[in-house]
Amino acid sequence: MINLYRKHIFPYLLDKVSRKLNTDRQRILPFLTGDVLELGVGTGVNFSFYSPNINSLIAVEPDAALLQRAAKQKAVLEVVQADKFYLVQGDGHELPLASNSLDTVLCCLVLCSIPDPLRALSEIYRVLKPGGHLVLFEHVKSEHRVTHAFQQVLNPVWRPLACGCCLQRDTLQLIKQAGFLTDDLLIYRHNDLPALVGTMLEGVATKP
Ligand SMILES: C[S@@+](CC[C@H](N)C(=O)[O-])C[C@H]1O[C@@H](n2cnc3c(N)ncnc32)[C@H](O)[C@@H]1O
Repeated sequence: MINLYRKHIFPYLLDKVSRKLNTDRQRILPFLTGDVLELGVGTGVNFSFYSPNINSLIAVEPDAALLQRAAKQKAVLEVVQADKFYLVQGDGHELPLASNSLDTVLCCLVLCSIPDPLRALSEIYRVLKPGGHLVLFEHVKSEHRVTHAFQQVLNPVWRPLACGCCLQRDTLQLIKQAGFLTDDLLIYRHNDLPALVGTMLEGVATKP
């Protein structure tokens, strides 16, 4: 039953829900440049928003069922763009990539789901070139006391249903701890999302 949920129902739900954020994707994605890594691509919902000017995209995803859907998204892109996309079944805790090799990493609604986000951030730091950019669009812990309390209470029920997603991560703190410069990051309340997942961290963290 759990396998059925993970393989068929969760990918379907994820696709439906995350398409609601297409306006945000449209705002953020076209500015990514160079050799890019997207961590936890899920169903590949971001693929169509990348600029034709990127050099390459390495799309990492640990879940085989999600990666299969991502392959279908890649297949509908223009061939010149699709040829730059490399889909890799892999884990953000241990990226199969050389140190100092990438210009940009995108984390879009993924640091909430990675079991050890600090380890993944250290890996991202390692693979980015000095001056490289970590672009973020993440839901994080609420700054509102009551909502944060709800996030804490509901997290044990939410987490297994959302395949590991944590409601109340202090992702900004983790990014600072990993060594990034965080002047260009913003925390705000997203109007179209429910309060439990509606506090967003958006912007660019830089590897010094
Ligand atoms: C909420 S989904 C977001 C998917 C997609 N980025 C989006 O914008 O809709 C979280 C994603 O994180 C992925 N994930 C979970 N653990 C991971 C890990 N250790 N390394 C990389 N990705 C991981 C999940 O498989 C899933 O695709």
